[in-house]
Amino acid sequence: MNARITIVDLLNAKQQRRPIVAVSCYDYTTARLVAQAQADMILVGDSAAQLVLGHDCTLPVSLDFMVTITAAVRRAAPDLFLVADMPFLSYQTSAADAIRNAGRFLTEAGVQMVKFEVTNAYLDTIRAVSNAGIPVMAHIGILPQWITTMGRFRAEGTTAEAAMELVRTAEQMVRAGAAAFLIEGTAAEVAQVITERSPVPVISCGSGPGCDGQILVAPDILGLATEQSPRFAKAFGDLGIRSIEAFRAYGEAVRTRHFPDSDHSYHMKAGQLQKLEEMLRENR
Ligand code: KIV
Repeated sequence: MNARITIVDLLNAKQQRRPIVAVSCYDYTTARLVAQAQADMILVGDSAAQLVLGHDCTLPVSLDFMVTITAAVRRAAPDLFLVADMPFLSYQTSAADAIRNAGRFLTEAGVQMVKFEVTNAYLDTIRAVSNAGIPVMAHIGILPQWITTMGRFRAEGTTAEAAMELVRTAEQMVRAGAAAFLIEGTAAEVAQVITERSPVPVISCGSGPGCDGQILVAPDILGLATEQSPRFAKAFGDLGIRSIEAFRAYGEAVRTRHFPDSDHSYHMKAGQLQKLEEMLRENR
């Protein structure tokens, strides 16, 4: 039996400079493949709002939906380090709500860490959730849940002043109890400085190679993704094209009656068809 990857393994990876491989995915079938490919970490991201539900931002995904899909991912990947994303309005209302809602991911979905998109206005929330025994991943840099305030997103930390603010914020978050960082869309130089100064693992999402690990969303890695893919995403496969080919081949086989064939059908037991035909004749 494989041992489950824990926070201690992630800290060891950081110390030994072994890059942590993380994937954001949302369902049982994909998570099984990610586990078979020996990733270290799965994040069930609120990007599910876009890539599963087809919304144009991450806001409209519910806590119940996130808990349900996260539990499915845990069933598929029992040994990977599992992180769940706190959806919009599941932690902004109060520290008590944050603890209660984050706790659901531990008790109902078996996660080991919960991710919050945070500014330094959320230090008390980080402290309260961490003190409740729930490890917090602080998501900094570009914060997709803040789209309404920001209007549009630009790379973060591109000036010395902005970079310094991000470095200070990260340090305050560590003091408040953050157990890991996800840093999105931030200048690579700044993400590296934060990583070097951070005692906890820092996962980069489009923030360059100098972090302790990397994360991309599964649909981008597979080449399935849509027009919403960010500039930093890279496809490592072409499953989008291959999926269209497979759906086309299926359609063609149905239309030409090559599918289903005998091998893909159930059959009556020997002699039962003749018996049925007799019964039908007698019934006429
Ligand atoms: O929601 C998500 O999948 C994320 C990744 C982009 C890191 O936060």
